Amino acid sequence: MYADRMLTKWLQDLKPRAAAMKDQPVFYRNLEQAMDISRADRSLIVARPRWDDSVLDFTSSDFLSFSRSGRIREAFLEELGRHEEFRLSASGSRVQYGNYDYLIQVEQEIADFHGAEAAYIAHSGFMANAGTVAAVPLPGDAIVYDDAVHASTHEGLKLSLASHQLSFRHNDPDALHEVLSSLKKSHKAFELGTSSILIAVESVYSMDGDICPLEEMVQVAKEVFPLGNAQFIVDEAHSNGVIGPRGAGLVNMLGLEKEIAIRIHMCSKALGSTGGVILCNKTVRARLISNARFAIYSGAPSFPMVASMRAGYRLLENGEAEKGMEKIQTSVRHFLKTITAHPVWDEAVDEGILNIPLAEDYESNEHLTHIVPVLTRPKHEVYLFFHLIINNINAYPISFPVVPKGKSRVRLVFHAHNSLDQAETLANVICEWAQEMLDIEAGKTDNVMPSAARKVYAMKT
Ligand SMILES: Cc1ncc(COP(=O)(O)O)c(C=O)c1O
Repeated sequence: MYADRMLTKWLQDLKPRAAAMKDQPVFYRNLEQAMDISRADRSLIVARPRWDDSVLDFTSSDFLSFSRSGRIREAFLEELGRHEEFRLSASGSRVQYGNYDYLIQVEQEIADFHGAEAAYIAHSGFMANAGTVAAVPLPGDAIVYDDAVHASTHEGLKLSLASHQLSFRHNDPDALHEVLSSLKKSHKAFELGTSSILIAVESVYSMDGDICPLEEMVQVAKEVFPLGNAQFIVDEAHSNGVIGPRGAGLVNMLGLEKEIAIRIHMCSKALGSTGGVILCNKTVRARLISNARFAIYSGAPSFPMVASMRAGYRLLENGEAEKGMEKIQTSVRHFLKTITAHPVWDEAVDEGILNIPLAEDYESNEHLTHIVPVLTRPKHEVYLFFHLIINNINAYPISFPVVPKGKSRVRLVFHAHNSLDQAETLANVICEWAQEMLDIEAGKTDNVMPSAARKVYAMKT
């Protein structure tokens, strides 16, 4: 059974190693010693074995099931068939031999699909985000970012030459207004328009599953900086394929194509492919080519990678996203309906055992995202994860520092391949665990740890 295999490997990975490495070069022992500290409190991040399709998948990023169904593979093989003479490698960076026609053509097709002037393909979404944030702002500029932006944006901030880096409260246009106004007041260059501000947000936040109030934020930026020196970079990792017309993303859904300077679309999630696409105008594209280290000092994306991205976009163009988007909406709604109607739900929420912020007004919410966090008390996220996996359901626990302290959760990700029955099973199994926690709390049992956690910690490795 998958749970046994995965948990056994996890427990093995957590065994201390440094002490057994006395004869090894000290270089390796030092590394193991550092990791032993995380092993001791079970916080070491480890690779998990892949699960098969018999496990209920509430984790993978195959949102539209393009990968599991084989649809992206078929589209990819067809694309290869159309280009039998392809050269596999780009054999150079974009500023050298690597700027091949097919890559340029696919970039323009993707730009057209999203209603952008231009596009630039990077090896991954992480690289696209980090590289763009690092390369676009000029010295003297500012980067203003939502508190909850992804690690890749933070990586870009570390490398950026921007003179000011300020965050604002998550998804709060008033907080953005405050930060922009304070920059304008304290630095004449922003008021005069001789320096610019890049505002980094995400269309759908990967940990909270909430949607950016982008229209309001665009209005705020225009109001404070009418000269147009405050522009947005929007990470569309979690909306590409699952929001908007043909899955084109949030900016397309809101018709803000002309207002947003830079959009980053990831192909590694809903598209079942890989790579990141930077949508922008010709000025920003030229700035990337001339200044982004990942563009200048790295071989350009290979033909198979670009072909797989094109295959993903062909599926979107053919309307394949809409069917999957509809299925996700139905499953999420059914899950929320089942869990909030469960007899244990109200008590579990009142006692702070469980909370699903997105459940509060889901009935009136026209668009539910595929990411539904189930908030727990600290450490309970791991107990709930054990309970789920032992019941053959995979949904990962997320703890500090990935999310702020006090915001531990099990993050549920819904897909086109999750049936209504699966959504119902998930809700019932979560509530079964909540009941167990309530019983422990009320002293109805001698145990202090729930049954699944006891089983896991008793496992022989
Ligand atoms: C919000 C966000 N941005 C960027 C990335 C990185 O994308 P990629 O997997 O294409 O590197 C991810 C992936 O986890 C993400 O969730």
